[in-house]
Amino acid sequence: MPSEAFVAKLNEQIGHEYAAHQQYVAIAVHYDAETLPQLARFFYRQALEERDHAMMMIQYLVDADERAVVPGVAAPQVDFGDVVSPVALALAQEKRVSEQINALAGLARQEGDYSSEQFMQWFIKEQIEEVATMSDLLRVVQRSQDHAMDIEDYLAREQLGDADDDPTAPHPAGSSG
Ligand SMILES: [Fe+2]
Ligand SMILES: [Fe+2]
Repeated sequence: MPSEAFVAKLNEQIGHEYAAHQQYVAIAVHYDAETLPQLARFFYRQALEERDHAMMMIQYLVDADERAVVPGVAAPQVDFGDVVSPVALALAQEKRVSEQINALAGLARQEGDYSSEQFMQWFIKEQIEEVATMSDLLRVVQRSQDHAMDIEDYLAREQLGDADDDPTAPHPAGSSG
């Protein structure tokens, strides 16, 4: 049975994952409006991954017969001055989430809640990948900020952040397969 303290913190994290989802949709819509379809596509896809993270956490709580609270979230930032700032915001967000995920794993261990500690392991690995992907993208947009089409070409070529099917991923609530 998950510890009470862990359940409370995981419910908070569900809110952070949904907030990340909303923020990435807002960034995708911004790039779409700027006619930068590859950047838009990248962030629409990242948004779906964040939604899945929330749904994996919900599934974990449902399976453990614990209460999953579907949270409201604060409005995302929707206005951006240049092509770089949304990616910088996204990287800061991923770094913050990494700290939150590590804290959740630490809390589970401290509480002697080893199943929850194990559940968090996949998210630790996922965050390492997401921070690396977003750092790569930030370097690309910084280098080519005055040539947005070079960024688009890079994304079309490199398939940055394309989700590979990961058989070790936790099951997102409500998804088939
Ligand atoms: Fe996430
Ligand atoms: Fe993420």
